[in-house]
Amino acid sequence: MVNKQEKNQHLLKPIVLCGFMGSGKSGLGRVISERTGTTFFDLDEMIEHKYEKKITELFEIYGEAWFRETEKNELIEFLNCQHQNNQIFVLSLGGGTLQSKELVSLINTTCDLWFIEVPFDQLINRVMKRTTRPLLLDKEGKMKPKNILYQELKALYSKRLPIYKLATHIFESNDNLSKEDNAEQLLASIASKQLED
Ligand code: S3P
Repeated sequence: MVNKQEKNQHLLKPIVLCGFMGSGKSGLGRVISERTGTTFFDLDEMIEHKYEKKITELFEIYGEAWFRETEKNELIEFLNCQHQNNQIFVLSLGGGTLQSKELVSLINTTCDLWFIEVPFDQLINRVMKRTTRPLLLDKEGKMKPKNILYQELKALYSKRLPIYKLATHIFESNDNLSKEDNAEQLLASIASKQLED
């Protein structure tokens, strides 16, 4: 059990969390925002809310290319708006949101970008527990077999890893700790980095 700090911490800069599906970005982000008294945003939820449809439905109706363009545009609009209003927040991205170095640089100009790193073999077990991610489903909407998923996601993970690693900060999530304890460790790392800056 990691010792919880007595007082809420204050963030000096907004925090953006990136990482592969199943890395725990949203769960960690929620705890960080509670512990710092800031508002939590989840990019997927913002898109679902705006279009009044689940991500799986959006993929089905408009396709992946539309979704990629939409998540990029939503992110840019969100960052501009929060920046203009001088807001401090915690934002969790989707696993595929970071599509270019330019997007990473844009985030880095106003926010601290953290890559939540989890070993691939742990990610695959985690993502197989939920059928809410369209990339994991076959044409009938059923979860693809584990061997197929393993190959497809391994290739996607290797392709995305270099861009995740462009994040200024990396947090190694520990599967042996609870979400709360991982969040405490992340919070401690965030605090020490923000004080260093
Ligand atoms: C995706 C990850 C999902 C969601 C969509 C596509 C991806 O978000 O944006 O299903 O391409 O990795 P999470 O990483 O929050 O699961």
